[in-house]
Amino acid sequence: SEQGCLSIIVLGASGDLAKKKTFPALYHLFDQGFLQSGEVHIFGYARSNLSDDGLRERIRGYLKGAPEDLSEFLQLIKYVSGSYDNGEGFEKLNKEISKYEESNQSGSYRRLFYLALPPSVYPSVCRMIRTYCMNPCKYGIDIIGLFAASHPGWTRVIVEKPFGKDLDSAEELSAQLGELFEEHQLYRIDHYLGKELVQNLLVLRFANRLFLPLWNRDNIDNIQIVFREDFGTEGRGGYFDQYGIIRDIIQNHLLQVFCLVAMEKPVSLKPEHIRDEKVKVLQSVNPIKCEEVVLGQYDGYKDDPTVPDDSNTPTFASVVLRVHNERWEGVPFILKAGKALNSRKAEVRVQFKDVPGDIFKCKKQGRNEFVIRLQPSEAMYMKLTVKKPGLEMATEQSELDLSYGMRYQNVKIPEAYERLILDTIRGDQQHFVRRDELKAAWQIFTPLLHDIDAGKLKAVPYQPGSRGPKEADELSSKVGYVQTHGYVWIPPTLA
Ligand code: BG6
Repeated sequence: SEQGCLSIIVLGASGDLAKKKTFPALYHLFDQGFLQSGEVHIFGYARSNLSDDGLRERIRGYLKGAPEDLSEFLQLIKYVSGSYDNGEGFEKLNKEISKYEESNQSGSYRRLFYLALPPSVYPSVCRMIRTYCMNPCKYGIDIIGLFAASHPGWTRVIVEKPFGKDLDSAEELSAQLGELFEEHQLYRIDHYLGKELVQNLLVLRFANRLFLPLWNRDNIDNIQIVFREDFGTEGRGGYFDQYGIIRDIIQNHLLQVFCLVAMEKPVSLKPEHIRDEKVKVLQSVNPIKCEEVVLGQYDGYKDDPTVPDDSNTPTFASVVLRVHNERWEGVPFILKAGKALNSRKAEVRVQFKDVPGDIFKCKKQGRNEFVIRLQPSEAMYMKLTVKKPGLEMATEQSELDLSYGMRYQNVKIPEAYERLILDTIRGDQQHFVRRDELKAAWQIFTPLLHDIDAGKLKAVPYQPGSRGPKEADELSSKVGYVQTHGYVWIPPTLA
């Protein structure tokens, strides 16, 4: 049933996300042979009045590739215009899709809807899809399962965050979508789950004997999960101000990484088994304490005309999570994210405890750390104390380094969106957020978010291009993180 005709419908086709992420990802899949002409058709849907060529030209500017390949790909795209809340446009869309399916005559109808839209229209758009655009065997495979063999196919829907603003609004949205689609048809994207080194966490943790006995409170002192960007909210201040850095990055992207770092070993690699473990660890997180939170807002953020002058929205936050279970009791997880900082990177930093009965004064050198650099310059490195080469018996910090650019020189690491769209076509939900997982994630952050929204916690100002508020560094050291001085890891480059 994974062969035959595939229709990919991008709703919000003229928007930013579609242009910058969705269409380029589709192009890369096409370019690598995962989407074949004759088998796949792409439909762009939006309100603007555009011709097929009009849409193609808009997309072309965001694609890099050989001109013939680009043209071949662009020819697969058709544009349908219509509104998001009435039937007319969706009837037209359905007609176009059916026309293509009938001409294809493969007997298999796969329809993938990608909602590159603001979540405010998700419920109405989903209702429209459910009413007008389900694949012809909707009553077969989805509900009764009887006609599955004679009419293979499916309808799947990809949605993008933000999924609500807090627990209640997220649950309401989930309930609305849940009435229209089964959980196995809904693919909630968190694009961090599509990143190579995020996917590697599972392998790293559970396929290496080396880590198994160390990965716990007996050996690990603290874990940081850090996201830094060296640009501000330029151009999207209006959106951002409604959400803030916790909803934009921490509650979703960093928390997903947290799950993979902290969860127990799943029963198997089945998507449901993995997601079960993620839910469990989220449910073991203690309520966040105000004194373990630092919020910041960079100077100049409010100059954006779409941001209110009295905005208290954080563009930086450091939040300590504490997991109440046998493995992690007492180990702080510091989740930190900021915009307009002095560098751009995302990493997981596992800091081990000091050596007991130390005879080398390792403490002065710094602790062992295992760092997983998610981006840029994907790498894993382990900071070790070694004998300084030479005649003296002196020690220094060094590292074991697995830098992907060096080790995998001929491998192109796929874009997150490429992988996730392919997973959706294949029906693999492992790297998507399940409804109960989303709920558990909101449960952790909602009380804190409500306090921030009510102005009970204030964002302290910081200089753009800095490390962020100094209070954040103070919080990290207060909960146990020891910074290594005089040591910087430099990503190795090819000579
Ligand atoms: C998005 C956020 O989800 O992730 C943006 O809304 C952020 O604010 C982006 O810039 C970061 O993604 P990446 O893949 O560039 O780290």
